[in-house]
Amino acid sequence: MKKPIIIANWKMNLSFQKTLDLTSQVKDDLSEIKDKDIIVCPSAVALSSVAGLIKNTNLKLGAQNVFWEENGAYTGETSPAVLQEIGCQYTIVGHSERRKYLGETNLMVNKKVNICLENNLTPILCIGETKDERHEGLTDNVLYHQLKECLDGVNIVDNEDIVIAYEPVWAIGSGDIAEPEEVARVFELIQQVLIDIYPLTVVKNNVRMVYGGSVDSDGAVGFSQLKLLDGFLVGGASLEINKFKEIVKSL
Ligand code: PGA
Repeated sequence: MKKPIIIANWKMNLSFQKTLDLTSQVKDDLSEIKDKDIIVCPSAVALSSVAGLIKNTNLKLGAQNVFWEENGAYTGETSPAVLQEIGCQYTIVGHSERRKYLGETNLMVNKKVNICLENNLTPILCIGETKDERHEGLTDNVLYHQLKECLDGVNIVDNEDIVIAYEPVWAIGSGDIAEPEEVARVFELIQQVLIDIYPLTVVKNNVRMVYGGSVDSDGAVGFSQLKLLDGFLVGGASLEINKFKEIVKSL
């Protein structure tokens, strides 16, 4: 396993005050941990306050989304350069909720991955099949195309990292966690696609693979033995400090 990474995706679930409270709890309980990367992803309005709270700790800040240009007339969008300026080191891109509700396409996600790397932000690239696609036996095909299109022309050099988050859409927020064996199989496939695109050293050193979708403290344990798993992207369970702590511990 590479350095484990556990990402808390708080989505749009918390008030501003509750975001600060939860950040303080994470800070109290987990900020001493050095051998794992723990990333908190609050909503955009709270990013800079959370950045202040976790400054000089081991915790890291991630955004839930980013725009594909650094500045300009893009009303309502968030600049990667500004994210970097306020202390973000990561950003989620291509989350299935954004694909579903905001029409994000692989082409948009591809531009976002590129601009992240140009701005020293590590993209957490989300891919995953829907329930229908799964039932039609299209999982591998969907993941292959998402990876190829989202990473088209994306050059990863020595000091750059990327995280691939396999999040089956049917597993997100449903309580229906994927089978570890299936995730292991999918990770092999993802690794193979990455090896087709990048030199082996890049795949080995610069890419981490995480699973997301109804990860909770019990479910996480079943994944801890997976050879290619480097961590988790956690939604619901990251809102409860005790559950989140257990998930961090499971790796
Ligand atoms: P969940 O969300 O853990 O609540 O399923 C995961 C995600 O959407 O990143």
